[in-house]
Amino acid sequence: MPLLQESIQESTKEAHKIQPGLLASYRKAQERGLKLNMARGKPSPEQLDLSSGMLNALGPDELVGACHAGQADDRRNYGDLLGIPEARALMAAIMEVPPDSVIVANNSSLSIMYDLVSRAMTHGLAGEAPWARLPEGERPVFVCPAPGYDRHFAATAHFGIEMITVAMRDDGPDMDHVESLVESKEHGRRVKGIWCVPKYSNPTGVTYSEEVVRRLAALKSPARDFRIYWDNAYAVHDLGEQGDTLFSIKQACDEAGNPDRWYQLASTSKITFAGAGIAAVASSPANIDEIARQLAMRTIGPDKLNQLRHVMFLRDLKGVRAHMRRHAELLRPKFETVLRVLAEELGGQGLGEWTRPNGGYFISFDGPVGTARRVVELCADAGVVLTAAGATYPGGVDPHDKNIRIAPTYPSVEELEQASCLFALCVKIAAAEKAARL
Ligand SMILES: Cc1ncc(COP(=O)(O)O)c(C=O)c1O
Repeated sequence: MPLLQESIQESTKEAHKIQPGLLASYRKAQERGLKLNMARGKPSPEQLDLSSGMLNALGPDELVGACHAGQADDRRNYGDLLGIPEARALMAAIMEVPPDSVIVANNSSLSIMYDLVSRAMTHGLAGEAPWARLPEGERPVFVCPAPGYDRHFAATAHFGIEMITVAMRDDGPDMDHVESLVESKEHGRRVKGIWCVPKYSNPTGVTYSEEVVRRLAALKSPARDFRIYWDNAYAVHDLGEQGDTLFSIKQACDEAGNPDRWYQLASTSKITFAGAGIAAVASSPANIDEIARQLAMRTIGPDKLNQLRHVMFLRDLKGVRAHMRRHAELLRPKFETVLRVLAEELGGQGLGEWTRPNGGYFISFDGPVGTARRVVELCADAGVVLTAAGATYPGGVDPHDKNIRIAPTYPSVEELEQASCLFALCVKIAAAEKAARL
């Protein structure tokens, strides 16, 4: 979301004039000794409490009813490499795909993504050469819409994969740029993947439009092992009654004649327990078969009792939606608090723009160019921890040093009020300092 440079310069000059007042307020804030954290997108303790009942959903009695000793469905034993059928059906409903296109694994979708990339590096995809063996000049490249999810970029960097940043717009990635990279006659073969958080994107909250989904599906890639990593982490995480709708990547790829193009990921980390949920990957029959063959080398089977526990507690999509409404009731006031303070303190002054998401876990803030790192530093010195500036870009470097990810889910409403006021104050100070340098 581009800022109007002229209006920023004007307003930062204005802000510079009132700097002494700002600094006095900042010093007062420092004296209050705040200890707040708006950095990571974690569920709050109250959200976690919503799922406590899951621990009683599978006691010894329920286990007897659900597991038949000596039978194939004895979930206390090895088996069901692709997940128990009930859990595959549950995750399929969340991901809006058929159950047989889903593998339910253990606790983390990020681990599944890591494994997908890792296997492509060592063993290759669809019969193509392993990426790690590609000669210099043909090494793999990932397209990274940014601001984006820092852990996608960290995992990609970890494998030495080159990342090319593409701007995020209000309806998804800049598709003209994506097409120019993926379809490039010269370099298109090297482009092996694109990271997407298609619904309530981390951190912008954007949901991709149908046009963007269809353009991604229809990309004319010269690489048979080019894949869309469709990290649908916030598939059911609406804040209001009317959530955003996301067009099906499976349908789009099928209709575009690229059925093996997609991997969809999801987990219950932000539905039940973060880090103790169940995670899933969905894809075409050929891809699921390929993953399953490799998975068989990695594990004898997943934690089926946790899968069963989830099914008994959440039951079906209706149950998931009812549960997510309880999350939304806790989250709405938090997002509203941050958005209100930002509007009151920074609105209409050209000091920044921010997103007003309909779901997900984040608000994305774009301040004046060249101020984000300073804002994060000022906040830290007054006791409010924010996500490191730059973290939302590949390599941790925001070329404009302007984006900050705000995570309002964990702190209480009172803490968010204080933290957001301090944040706004720090934005004003950083803008004034910048104006003084101009
Ligand atoms: C976009 C996105 N994907 C994946 C994850 C991690 O999911 P999991 O806990 O299933 O590994 C997160 C967590 O913040 C996220 O924001």
